[in-house]
Amino acid sequence: MADIRLNKITVCGGGNGAQTLAPIAAHQLDCQVDLYAPFGDEADRLRSGSDSHGGVETTGAVQAKALLRCISADPAEVIPGSPLVVLVLPAFAHESTLRAILPFLDQGAWVGAIPARGGFDFCAAKLLREHGRPDVALFGLQTLPWACRIQEFGRSIHVLGVKQAVDAASRPAGLIGEMAPVLQGMLGLRVHQAASLLALTLANTGQLIHPGIMYGLFGDWDGTPFPADGVPLFYHGLSDHGANVLAAMSEDVQAIRECLGASIDLSAVRPLIEWLLYSYNRNIQDSSTLRSAFVTNQAYSGLKAPVREVAPGAFVPDFGARYLTEDVPYGLAVSRAIAELAGVETPALDRVIGWAGAQLGKDFLSTHQDETRVPQRYGLDRLDHLITFVRED
Ligand code: NAI
Repeated sequence: MADIRLNKITVCGGGNGAQTLAPIAAHQLDCQVDLYAPFGDEADRLRSGSDSHGGVETTGAVQAKALLRCISADPAEVIPGSPLVVLVLPAFAHESTLRAILPFLDQGAWVGAIPARGGFDFCAAKLLREHGRPDVALFGLQTLPWACRIQEFGRSIHVLGVKQAVDAASRPAGLIGEMAPVLQGMLGLRVHQAASLLALTLANTGQLIHPGIMYGLFGDWDGTPFPADGVPLFYHGLSDHGANVLAAMSEDVQAIRECLGASIDLSAVRPLIEWLLYSYNRNIQDSSTLRSAFVTNQAYSGLKAPVREVAPGAFVPDFGARYLTEDVPYGLAVSRAIAELAGVETPALDRVIGWAGAQLGKDFLSTHQDETRVPQRYGLDRLDHLITFVRED
């Protein structure tokens, strides 16, 4: 789609990230933006919020405001006519969203996920095959560029921090050269090209940071509820023990990179400390250790661990939060499954996956594999199959 004309794009999702991207993209690209929000009554709530505020607005680190052209729960109203369609959703909503929008995609559309999380390409390529849509190209970003939280639904979203640079990859892989400038224009920050979506799967640092910090904070929790002022800060509460957990997980991923790096370009798979500095350099006051880089990162300021109130003033960890329910089946389990194909041991990943699975009552590596995006689910059950898939254009 060399002559991409961005008269209109569509953002899919109704949460923090989607409500952040929509006005930023409208502002950056100076084009119309539609929003596909099929979840519950979100489309109605978004419309009424936006109407009463004169548009959707981001505040804080990035400021943009836009009236969206159309907000709808019906893909027929918002997908046609968009050469660029962006899913900004938790990964567990990717498949159902792709299934709903596929029949309405323009010829040659670009469809991507921000962030891609693990195995987006395995799932999306299968759906494109099933729907006979070889014309549609895929892309993904390694992370969401912003830390953002809705303040008033459909009206204002606060952007706590913005990353300086983000990696992106495509399928066919070669298209990223054409896509990256468009994505960079849309986001208003540097977008670097990664060699493949497999590289982004392994480079997904959310899979390390979110479950790893949960394990560090609550791995030894004895079940006693804590008071409101005992709810730990998620990032700024990182202990030496938590930082060691993260470092060990990062080393496991680097071992996978080393093993596969001879066959596939995995240069985008950075050690965690390098990624933090690459993404947040300006926000970090002390980068001397992994722990200090987390606890002095202003973009993480004030964010608390996910908790549930079980009685007035009594809180317990919320193991149902996406830090485990998304980042393990659509992150860690995928990397762990790739390691298995490559014959690489991953003791730190195994420990955290096992602990998270115990909290959720799921064994993501065997009985609940069908709730993950491991390559084996998509017929990629040998290393040579996986490498062939990645090299396929
Ligand atoms: P969110 O928690 O705000 O997303 C919830 C939204 O997803 C819902 O409002 C709904 O629109 C949609 N959704 C949920 N379940 C659905 C389903 N079954 N079917 C269809 N739609 C469904 O998520 P957020 O914060 O926007 O994050 C999006 C992605 O970005 C996630 O992968 C998250 O891990 C990642 N991310 C978010 C950051 C943030 O600061 N918000 C920071 C870094 C990454």
